[in-house]
Amino acid sequence: MRPLVASASLVLAVSSCDNSEAFRKMNPSWSRMLTQPRADAYDPSEVFDNGKVMQDPPRGTIPADLEPSEPLPITRELVVLGRTSFETYCAACHGILGDGQSVVAEKMLLRPPPSFHEARIRAFPPATIVQVIESGYGFMPSYAVMVRPHERWAVAAYVKALQASRMPASELPPDLRDALEKSDKQNAPSSKETP
Ligand code: HEC
Repeated sequence: MRPLVASASLVLAVSSCDNSEAFRKMNPSWSRMLTQPRADAYDPSEVFDNGKVMQDPPRGTIPADLEPSEPLPITRELVVLGRTSFETYCAACHGILGDGQSVVAEKMLLRPPPSFHEARIRAFPPATIVQVIESGYGFMPSYAVMVRPHERWAVAAYVKALQASRMPASELPPDLRDALEKSDKQNAPSSKETP
């Protein structure tokens, strides 16, 4: 008996899902979609414990558009994350070194992406870079959908690092200049090694 029952229910299941008739018609009517059973967001529901169709988000959920976009302390991890995001989302236009050299930039004849090493953009604080990512600028669209709020600060930190990598030492902020001088001294060959 068992195989018979199984095959009978299989036939039923297959035939109940058979919509092919609707698709075979040249001009199928979709009006049936208006009358099919459905649950609207604010309707009551017997299915869920809270008696509502709309369910509460799990505890601790942060809505994507309310994720705080606050300056983050600069750490190695943040800069590393910023590099990945920069190379994923920005480098296609701004070039992997942020110098505006890219295949895409070559095609943007009207107003190509500027080099981040121009004095004007070098002077941008991280918050300005974050704002450009959030809102776009001129021909550049907003990247807020792709770059999460905390990632925006990471990208800004990496752009600042790219800029510093091309700056003459005399133009570096004092703390960076001190760090550079220290590391230069450490790396300089000691008098014992020099012949
Ligand atoms: C599709 C190409 C494209 C991508 C991708 C892109 N940009 Fe841009 N960006 C531009 C263009 C073009 C401009 C110049 C727009 C103008 O002057 O109208 C620009 C300008 C800028 C500026 C200068 C704004 C100013 O005040 O002059 C900054 C900073 C910037 N982009 C950062 C970024 C960052 C960070 C990313 C990655 C999240 C990014 N861009 C991704 C094309 C792009």
